[in-house]
Amino acid sequence: MADLRVQYGGLEFKNPIVAAAGPLGRTFEALKRSIEAGCGAVTLKSNNAEVTEETTPKPGAHVYPRPAHTFLKKFGLTNMMINWEGVPVDFTAEEERKLIQEIKPIAADHGCRIIGNVHPDPIHMADFGLLRKDIETILSSEPDMIEFCTCPYHLPPEVTYPETADYDRIKETLTQVYGVVTEAADIPVIAKANGPIFYNALEAIRDLGVGSFHVTEGPLFYGTIVDIDKMTPLAPGPAVITYGAHRRPIMNLQCARTRNLSDNFDLMSSGGIWSMNDVIERLMCGAQIVGLHTAVQYHGQKLFSRIIEGMSGWLDDKGMALEEVIGKAVPKIVSQEAHDDFMRECDRSVDRIKPVIDSNICNGCGICANCIHGAIAVNDKKAETNLDNCVRCGVCESICPVDAITLQL
Ligand SMILES: Cc1cc2nc3c(=O)[nH]c(=O)nc-3n(C[C@H](O)[C@H](O)[C@H](O)COP(=O)(O)O)c2cc1C
Repeated sequence: MADLRVQYGGLEFKNPIVAAAGPLGRTFEALKRSIEAGCGAVTLKSNNAEVTEETTPKPGAHVYPRPAHTFLKKFGLTNMMINWEGVPVDFTAEEERKLIQEIKPIAADHGCRIIGNVHPDPIHMADFGLLRKDIETILSSEPDMIEFCTCPYHLPPEVTYPETADYDRIKETLTQVYGVVTEAADIPVIAKANGPIFYNALEAIRDLGVGSFHVTEGPLFYGTIVDIDKMTPLAPGPAVITYGAHRRPIMNLQCARTRNLSDNFDLMSSGGIWSMNDVIERLMCGAQIVGLHTAVQYHGQKLFSRIIEGMSGWLDDKGMALEEVIGKAVPKIVSQEAHDDFMRECDRSVDRIKPVIDSNICNGCGICANCIHGAIAVNDKKAETNLDNCVRCGVCESICPVDAITLQL
């Protein structure tokens, strides 16, 4: 068994797999199952400010509709979910505190870290005293760390939409809200937000004493799905948040770009992780620990165990230690020079490269004959190329289900 221990926020985690905030951190049973499945840490659901009759602003976003999540397989999108869940009104700081206390003995038995979570919402933003009170309530249950999610959903629009963002305002807003949590907390604070926020404000947040970051993404993933039989969107309104595998490439890039800002902070990342491969990839993009949520809602917590065992086997097979993996791909992801070299290497004339079909492997399925240039046909259950039509694009190699085609130099 490979050693999966990793340092994050000055603490040791037994492995880099984290149950990310959300429904996975909302009930005792969900937390317990993630802990028993072997996670290095579990994160609580964000609490909501307590809503009273006099509350201003009125808690329009604070609804907990049921049902709130739909996986989209029957709409042609695998490994993708939409979610129209607000923050549940009944999950207050007091509820979070109680849940942490209840789950603590089980976490201690399994050496699993507990991460409390606060998501400043419009009510908190209007009343920092209330925000501080909620943070103190959660801290009183003594989690190992506290994550502060300034993931943009509930912040002002200039913080929500990176395309129109005013980063001076963002820095000012974040400095204020992180000021509240860093003043209150004597445990490590995790700043959770999207890449563009970190590219612009990471150092300002660091200056407040925050050393651990969690890069994930919200605004890019708003969308809608129309049920064509009912002729109506699954969730009416301007948009809902989409979660799933489509986030993976975007979050890989955001993670690498965030990691590249400097070496003086620790980094977690979530978004679109569905397998052991995806975890290793995200580590290579510079994350020290990796969060999962949506895939676990689909597969259940056994996915955690599968990934942890898989990672251990992968490292053993490669004869590598975890620290040799972390950040490995970053230098080439963020380098214009590496990109230019790669493009130059790929700049080949058609006579220097061609698709070759291994007739012993080809099963004549005909998928490669979808070639839009008519460069492959299937005759007598074997694929054959017509190099006069072939533009050497590489599609056939990548869609062959049995790897019978290679582009050879
Ligand atoms: C239904 C749902 C609810 C979530 N609620 C929270 C939350 O309360 N606080 C928070 O910080 N993140 C929340 N998240 C974000 C996740 O923690 C995670 O960062 C994100 O889903 C990306 O990971 P994934 O692709 O594995 O789902 C939620 C995610 C989902 C799917």
